[in-house]
Order: sequence, then structure tokens, then C-alpha cells
Amino acid sequence: MIQTVRGMRDMYGAELADWHRAEEVFRTVSAEFGYEEFRTPILEHTELFKRGVGENTDIVGKEMYSFEDRSGDNLTLRPEMTAPIVRAAIEHTLLRHSPVTRIWYAGPLFRHERPQKGRYRQFHQYGAECLGSPNPESDAEIILLANEILRRVGVQRYSLELNTLGAPDTRTTYRAALVEYLTEHESELSADSVRRLATNPLRVLDSKEAADRPIVDAAPSLSDYHDEASRTHFDGVRAILDAAGVPYTVNAHMVRGLDYYSHTVFEFTTDALGSQNAICGGGRYDPLFALIGGTDAPAVGFSIGIDRVMLLLEAERAAPVLGPSPDIYLCAIGDAARLPVQLLAMRLRRRGFSAVTDLLRRSMKGQMKDADRLRATFTASIGDDELASSTVVLKNMQTGEQKTIPQTDLEQALTSA
Ligand code: HAM
Repeated sequence: MIQTVRGMRDMYGAELADWHRAEEVFRTVSAEFGYEEFRTPILEHTELFKRGVGENTDIVGKEMYSFEDRSGDNLTLRPEMTAPIVRAAIEHTLLRHSPVTRIWYAGPLFRHERPQKGRYRQFHQYGAECLGSPNPESDAEIILLANEILRRVGVQRYSLELNTLGAPDTRTTYRAALVEYLTEHESELSADSVRRLATNPLRVLDSKEAADRPIVDAAPSLSDYHDEASRTHFDGVRAILDAAGVPYTVNAHMVRGLDYYSHTVFEFTTDALGSQNAICGGGRYDPLFALIGGTDAPAVGFSIGIDRVMLLLEAERAAPVLGPSPDIYLCAIGDAARLPVQLLAMRLRRRGFSAVTDLLRRSMKGQMKDADRLRATFTASIGDDELASSTVVLKNMQTGEQKTIPQTDLEQALTSA
């Protein structure tokens, strides 16, 4: 028996009803904020993520699906979308045409992580990137957009954490001070943190290991290293969020797992999903354009983990949702009615109704049972009498009410129901 690849899953039935609703919200709210959809290929050159996300991050170091294709090119199934969007913006000189370019996207991503609830090897993100503005208004716009999407999709309980990483060179100075401090305490750190100390020391601050907490809590604070411009920027972002009534807490230890950030970083979290508590992550990434080889440009964005949002909706829902059901099920009574019923179904579909017919040549009783199973709103039956008089017997499956009407009145009857 061949099964799905570990960490990947099939999606179908009722779960997809939630996805479709969420996708509608992505489309609508993005447009309300003036963001345009962008689609990039699922495969990119491995080099893009090495340079953009950073060689020493978990994503690039341990989690990418990378391979050499038949032409000898090193390719990777995209593990995130920000580097591809910036690659595309450089390639198509988007900022030359529009000095502030607002982009949204949704699609599958791949990371070879250890699968657990809310963590998959193929997962999906909705995200938005605001390219071209260095000002706090754009950080705030992005956070307000993420907040609005989560609210409108129907997530009820979540909180927002905010931090600033300051200017890129501040981080370099701070990193040196942090490494010095952590090296003094190396023997007390968890194995994971010792490894990170060598590769990506700022991530030690993120550690969830109990053993690391006292050391991390007493570590030098990045906030003591910020210059005046960084502080002003962060205050500007906070002032807009305050005015907009968006609650948040400042978490001085949040550094995020990707190398391209500077200044504002943020995460939306939930307490309803166990350890996979981040439903959205983002921040400002002014260094990224230059890392990928473009002209310097400021930018800020976020990505929401759709799979996690779907789990949340399911957990918060009282009653299960049902999958889609047809407006009408057309029953053919006898061989002669089969083709006319197919044609009638086609006519109704062209008018925008969902119409289903029997494909197993069932008895009348069997067809009514099938209509019931599919939760059809109406059935319309056609036998010899109805064929002769161009009528149908229309039945409202909820009330049981039944009447004979001309076939030409069907659309009207379905619309007024
Ligand atoms: P990220 O924090 O790596 O950021 O991912 C964003 C969100 O994707 C997470 O908060 C989580 O909800 C979801 N996610 C990540 N990995 C998985 C997984 N294995 N299974 C299920 N869900 C997952 C980024 O990807 C950045 N590109 C965000 C960004 C956009 N920064 C600036 N612009």
C-alpha cells in the first residue's frame, strides 16, 4: 500500500469548506488594503534561500528539500515566500514602476521538520509584503492587515508580540556581546543552545528549554544597544497600533528564525495549539534586497500559517461544518428520461445552479436516497408523463412539499426558494 509522504496530507471534504472561506477572506481583505496577488514557482534556485534566509538558520541548514535536477541545477522546494517575492521584485523591476509595491500570496511550502500537530512538511501560508517604504506606517499597515485577516477568517483567541532588532550593524555589535556572555555560561546551556551559540547565537534567546531560561533572562539585552533612529522607528509603529486599538506585548527576547530581519519583528500566537503556537510571523527585512543581489530597498511583511489557522477554527467551532451540497438532484425514471435529465442538468448549471444526476442507473427509490445522502435542496423527477408534458415533479427535500411544474419554470422555482 502506497501512502502519503510523512508530514504531508490529503485535504478534502468538510475541511476544504473552511479553506475556501478563508481564501475568500484573503482575496477580499488584501484588495481592501490595496495588495495585489503574486504567484511564483514552487521551485527556486537553492542559492536564493542560502543567501536570503541565511546559511546558519534551521530552515537552510536542516529543513530544505533540495536536489540537483537533470540539467545539474541545484533547486529547492520553496521553504518560505519572502525571498522568492523579493527575487521577483528585483527580476521584474517592480519598484521602478511602483515605489511602494504591495503584494500578497498564498500557496504550499516545504520544510523537512519533525511532523506533529500543526507542523507539517508541506504546509501553506497566506502572506503579504510591502516593498519600498522605510517608514513605521508600513510596518503598522502590515500588522493591521495580518490582524484583520485573522479576525475576519474567524480566529477568536490570539495575541500579538512585538520586538525590534534594531539596525543591522547594531545586531552585529550585540551579537558579539551576547556570544561573550553565553560562552561564559556554555556549560549550563542545553545541547541545542550550545549548537546555536556556534551557528546562530541570537536564536538562543528564543530557547524554550527550562534550563536555558535563567541564563537567557540575565543575558545582555538587545534593547540597550539600539540607536536613536531605531527607537524612534519602533515608537512610531507602536503609536499607530495603540491608536488603532490593536493590543500587543513587547517581547524583548523574540528574534525570529530567519536572518533577513532588521528593526520590527512580530508574531501572532495562540494558546490553543500546544507547542506549535505561532500562527503568523513577520517583520521588517531591509537587508534582503542587497543579500539577493538587488539595489537596496526597505520592506516589511508577514506570513500566516493557514494549516494552523484551520486547526484553530476547528477547535473553536461548536458544530461540525458540512461539505458542499447540490441545489438540485435530477431523477430519471425509466431509460427514456436519462438523456433529457442530463440536458436539463446542463441548462441549470449554465444558470449557476449546482445540479447532480444519477450515474449508476439506480431505481427511483435509490436516486431519492442518493439525493438525501448528498443533502440536495431539491429533487426534480422526470418519467414518461413528465416527458410528454415537459414538466418535472419538484420536491423540497426539507419540507417534503411536492408539485408538478413546467420545466421552463425550474430556474424561477429554485431562485425563489
Ligand atoms: P515563519 O515564522 O517561518 O516566517 O513562518 C510563518 C508561519 O508559517 C508560522 O508562524 C507558522 O504559522 C507557519 N509555519 C511555519 N512552518 C510550518 C510548518 N512546518 N507547518 C505548519 N505551519 C508552519 C516566514 O516564513 C517568513 N517568510 C514570514 C515573513 C514574511 N517575514 C516577512 N515577510
